[in-house]
Parts: sequence; structure tokens; C-alpha cells
Amino acid sequence: MSDRYCVIGNPVAHSKSPQIHAAFAAQTGQDIAYERCLAPLDGFAATLRSLVAQGYKGANVTVPFKIEASTLATRLSDRARAAGAVNTLGFGGGEIVGDNTDGPGLVADIIKNAGVALADKRILLLGAGGAARGIMLPFIEQRPRSILVANRTRATAVSLVDSFAGHGVPLAACGFDEIDGAYDIVVNATSSSLAAEMPPVPAAAFAPGSLALDIMYGSAPSPFMNFAAEQGARTRDGLGMLVEQAAEAFALWRGLRPATDDILNNLRNLK
Ligand code: ATR
Repeated sequence: MSDRYCVIGNPVAHSKSPQIHAAFAAQTGQDIAYERCLAPLDGFAATLRSLVAQGYKGANVTVPFKIEASTLATRLSDRARAAGAVNTLGFGGGEIVGDNTDGPGLVADIIKNAGVALADKRILLLGAGGAARGIMLPFIEQRPRSILVANRTRATAVSLVDSFAGHGVPLAACGFDEIDGAYDIVVNATSSSLAAEMPPVPAAAFAPGSLALDIMYGSAPSPFMNFAAEQGARTRDGLGMLVEQAAEAFALWRGLRPATDDILNNLRNLK
């Protein structure tokens, strides 16, 4: 029987993960089955126990269970602990191992797919929720020149930055109305695009030739991407991050890294 994996979420019907992992399995000749698993909002732990009992080898975790998954794992990777959230679980040897490939997926998309280095860059990170937290350590590891975290609720940005101090990369926090200066890479990690809104980022924040990336994706560019494009920035949605986080999860489970270009192009053409 194929090794079984799934993505657990609520809702989960929209998830592209089964399609992405099926493409990776076909490409690498790995015999896996990957499904969607809808967990009741109050039943994530029970769902997890049931998957382990059925012999599943691992699972991805999506909204709204990533934080709960980090509390149920018996072991956490450093990056999952830093993120306070888990998007990838591995089951085996009586352990539930939690990892977080979202941040590394974003870094891979920026470096490999967009062809933009993060080293020595001025980064503006918009948002200070779970998604922003998961991005911080992978960004810091790339040795950018600085990271400014701006958030609607200023205090949340301050506490996020405080929890990542001491890594040798200058970090600062502010409210949206305090954003000053120009940035090489601007990442919208708020959930504002879900409401067809955008953070009130000043036009001057986009340095000439900057990259503006929204971690959300949809059939049309987000308001943030449209605004950034009007300022001359190169824009990118979160589809590449989605594919790259999946590739990183696949590599953790199967011990080999799939190529991502074909599936990313296919998903883009389907949009
Ligand atoms: P996620 O896991 O997607 O990060 P979250 O932890 O609820 O979800 O965080 C949502 C983030 O988007 C927060 O930074 C939130 O700002 P607040 O801390 O002020 O709540 C931000 N956000 C949500 N809607 C927004 C909007 N319409 N404009 C700007 N920021 C928004």
C-alpha cells in the first residue's frame, strides 16, 4: 500500500496541496497517497490521533490548526518552535514531529524563483501575526541588512521583534503610519488581502527595483500587489511560496527534493 499523507484544515476543500504532492510523487517516482482531511474545529487532536492510528506517515496542517499542531507535537524543529506554529507533521516511532516549512518556502521562492537575494537587503515585513512570525527566523538566517516589522497593532510588532532579538540582524518595529524610508523587499504577511484590503503602506516604501510579495494568492492580484506595481515594484503572489513549502515538506518526508518549476507553471496557467 502507498504511504499515506494528508492536509488537515477547516475549510480544506480549496487546498492545492494534493495536486502539488501528486505532481512531486509522479516526478520522483515515490509511491504516496495524499488527501484532504477536514477536521472539526474542536476536533483537531482527535483527527490527529486517528490518522496516526491508521498508519499515516505525515500530514500538512493549515488554517486554523497550525498553532494547536505545535502544542500536540511530541518534538519540534527549531524553526517550528521559533514560529510557534507547525505546518508539517511526521509520524513514526511513537513520535509526532512538528516542523514549519512556510518561512523556508517563502525564502526559496524569493531566492530561487524570483531570483532575488535576501542577503544585505532592507526588508519591510507587513503584519505581525502567525504568518509573519514564521517568516522571521528564515529571513534572519539570510543575513539581510535590516528588517522593519510594521503592523496595524503596533504592540504586536514590538513583541514579535523582541522575541527575535540577538541574532545579529538589526530589527525594528512600528505602526503603519510610522513607516519611513525605502525597502528592497516588501512582504505583505497580513491577512488584509482576504478582505480585499491592503495595509496603508506609503508609496515611498518601495525602493526602485524592489520586490513586493503578498503571501496570499488568488485569481487576481491583491490590492497590495496592484498598489506596489503602481509604484514600479516587481510583484509576486504567494503561489510560489505554497509550492516551495510543499517541496520542503516532501523532502522532509521522503528524503529527496522535487523540482518545483513545472507544477508552479501549471498552477499559474490554471489561475
Ligand atoms: P495569520 O496566521 O494569517 O498571520 P493572524 O495571526 O490572525 O493570522 O494575523 C493576521 C495579521 O494580519 C495581523 O498582523 C493583523 O494585524 P493586527 O495584529 O493589527 O490584528 C493583520 N491584519 C488583518 N487584517 C488586516 C487589515 N485589514 N489591514 C491590515 N492588517 C491586517
